[in-house]
Amino acid sequence: MSAHETDIEPDVATSRADVPRAVFDAFSPEHWPDPYPWYAAARAADPLFPTPLGVHLVTRYQDCAAVLQDNNWSHAHEAELFHPGVDQLDLPTSFLWMDPPDHTRLRGLVSKAFTPRTVADLRPRIERLVTDLFDAIIEAREVDVITALAYPLPLTIIAELLGAPAEDHPNLQRWSGALARGFDPDPLLLPEERDARSQAAREFVAYFRALITRRRAEPADDLISGLAAVEEQGDILTENEMLATCVTLLVAGHETSVNLVANGILALIRNPDQYALLRSAPELAAPAVEEMLRYDSPVHMTTRLAHQRAQLAGHTFGAGDGVVLLFGSANRDPAAFPDPERFDITRYAGQTPAKRHLTFSLGIHYCLGAPLARLEMEIVLRELIRRGITMTPLADDLAYRRNLVLRGIASFPARFEQQSSAAVP
Ligand code: HEM
Repeated sequence: MSAHETDIEPDVATSRADVPRAVFDAFSPEHWPDPYPWYAAARAADPLFPTPLGVHLVTRYQDCAAVLQDNNWSHAHEAELFHPGVDQLDLPTSFLWMDPPDHTRLRGLVSKAFTPRTVADLRPRIERLVTDLFDAIIEAREVDVITALAYPLPLTIIAELLGAPAEDHPNLQRWSGALARGFDPDPLLLPEERDARSQAAREFVAYFRALITRRRAEPADDLISGLAAVEEQGDILTENEMLATCVTLLVAGHETSVNLVANGILALIRNPDQYALLRSAPELAAPAVEEMLRYDSPVHMTTRLAHQRAQLAGHTFGAGDGVVLLFGSANRDPAAFPDPERFDITRYAGQTPAKRHLTFSLGIHYCLGAPLARLEMEIVLRELIRRGITMTPLADDLAYRRNLVLRGIASFPARFEQQSSAAVP
């Protein structure tokens, strides 16, 4: 058991009366490094918890999965639930926050430009970048995993894919950070965080408007040019639709994956037996990524709002009622995953892999970038194996970002050493 786990009261929320507090304790900054015991207590006690925001928290896998796959539950109202009075975070609306038929139309058009082939073609570029990042890490020996690997990898790949020049990447990262912070419910944000979100939205729109205009005039070999060229039976993406798509791809394309890389490396460090197993069986790289996604979800929650009266977990929801689906809790639900608190890289290997985790959602909003996120992390794991890297944490307690939706590590000092015998061409 790791040091931070022993700090947690073992009898957390053992009585029924403590449970509402327990589920909110899971969100308190001091417990953010390990909210899982609180989730477990809440999930065991109740499938639903009312909140001061008026929405219910949904704790169990089966209920979260049911909502995600039922189009009566809409994702078009997240702004009303989390950001009342703010118009879709001051951005043109992304299809992420639309219902059919608008969602169907836009997702279809975007999928024509951002295809499985687009992702597969990125493999050599990702491999080269990961090699370069690890060259620098091994040379420095002691690094912050977040700034040395977890951010630069997905940010560089998605920004390059869109066609943003390298000198613009720091701005894109800054604006993304402000938007990502602003995904949390507004009552949890400081006034300056809300201002920074609006400012970032304005900067993003101005930036991508100019880039889209340039690419329309002079197409290049990038995704923005691809989106500009997409056409389906006379239908095309309007400028606002392209703007919303670019911001979504950029932000969703790295503010999530940063947590996959960092949480995944942390899981390997904290479970040396699993890292040893991975190094002895590189074919487990892909299943290990899947387990990392389940075990420590890079996106901890999403929202849905009922279009019509609905039953869920014995409760009747009226039209307009909202829920927050706790992926972080659902993915550790013992009713869905045997021994759920165990990090087991063979869980998704073999003939009968485990149930799908909810980390990429389910249903019509299933993550469009899942193949890219998986590919990036698999290449990181293969590089760790190829170089025979040993990893040592340099801090007992890790600082977590001020972010509930995109829960992840803020700073992660660690030492990386490469076995001198490892063959690195
Ligand atoms: C580990 C990394 C990632 C995680 C955990 C993740 C998670 C998610 C989740 C949970 C949703 C659906 C939200 C909901 O149903 O309410 C989603 C949607 C989406 N994601 Fe990801 N994502 C990741 C990486 C990416 C990447 C790399 C891209 C693009 C390059 C991307 C693009 C999108 C898009 C466009 C949608 C909207 C899909 C739709 O509404 O139809 N994501 N993602």
